[in-house]
Amino acid sequence: MNPPNKLEAIVLVGGRGTRLRPLTVTVPKPMLPTAGVPFLAHLFARARAAGVTRIVLATCYRSETFEESFGDGAGLGLELEYVREDEPLGTGGGIRNAASWLRSGPDEPVLVLNGDILSGHDLGAQLALHLSSDADVTLHLTEVPEPGRFGCVPTEPSGRVAAFLEKTQRPVTNRINAGCYIFRRSVLSEIPAGRAVSAERETFPALIERGARLMAYADDAYWLDVGTPSTFVRGSCDLVLGCLESPALPGRPGEALLLPGSSVAPDAVVCGGSAVGQGSVVGPGARVEGSVVFDDVEVGPGARVRGSALARGARVGDETVLDGAVVGEGSVIGPGNELRHGARVWPDVTLPAGAIRFSSDL
Ligand code: GTP
Repeated sequence: MNPPNKLEAIVLVGGRGTRLRPLTVTVPKPMLPTAGVPFLAHLFARARAAGVTRIVLATCYRSETFEESFGDGAGLGLELEYVREDEPLGTGGGIRNAASWLRSGPDEPVLVLNGDILSGHDLGAQLALHLSSDADVTLHLTEVPEPGRFGCVPTEPSGRVAAFLEKTQRPVTNRINAGCYIFRRSVLSEIPAGRAVSAERETFPALIERGARLMAYADDAYWLDVGTPSTFVRGSCDLVLGCLESPALPGRPGEALLLPGSSVAPDAVVCGGSAVGQGSVVGPGARVEGSVVFDDVEVGPGARVRGSALARGARVGDETVLDGAVVGEGSVIGPGNELRHGARVWPDVTLPAGAIRFSSDL
């Protein structure tokens, strides 16, 4: 079969994003500002570049946010459709539910993407493999040092998927499920309808069990699951720095992305791929390194912010140090605090001046 010129995709965006709390208390993970735009804008731009013209979004948690931001998709050169789950249907159930909104024929390929993966892999090559090998499903695989936290996917020498071992304690390979699949459309109807289903624990093992043809597209392109605070911050910085090209980046790659309406004092430093959102202010002598600063944030004079995420409306006091911290929407960190090592401040919390400090030898 020739590559289609009107490829459809399903994007899973219904998860609660618990690992990214408190950022996801107010904003669903795929909508978090990432290198100046909602994370999904990067994913959409890549899909568009690979020939996708229509996307069905499988939404659940804070579902209204998506349509409010992207509308019918015309501004992105896409046709967007929003499907809402009243109760979370899981990854497999979400795919099955969204599949009823597809228009592709039974043998046509449909792209299915997790809405929290930043990947530079060649979608066109994955599609070409899917078509040339007449696969039922073609999975993108990537290699990670700690495969046990993901779905471990051993393959046969032919490239056929041999097993799917979700979060196993004894990974047999470093190759993991990278969260980007191409399904033959008719295969989607094998997923049970009307109930929660895990694609990773149920759908893929069942397809292998029944002898379906699952092929692996493995490579070593840029790949990051942005589901934790540290990887979210890293992903945004990598996009700003240009480690991964994105057509959706609102500016040129560089040390910092300062959005219109932000202001940085002349002697302040913003570097390491930091993004500073609209209406945000970085005060005199402050340093913001490798961080994500959402809109309407204030970083006080002399503050030091590294590897951290500051949600909309956060205030960081004078001389405060944030290192690997997450500050929720509208929170105020009084002057002279030190928050390090994955500290998380919930939305609308006020931390008095100097309340938390580390001893100087840390
Ligand atoms: P954590 O709670 O931090 O694990 O995040 P998550 O809820 O996003 O779960 P996970 O990272 O495993 O999800 C992978 C992808 O599937 C993400 O893009 C989620 O938005 C999506 N997803 C997870 N559960 C559901 C669901 O029940 N329905 C839909 N439509 N999407 C889901």
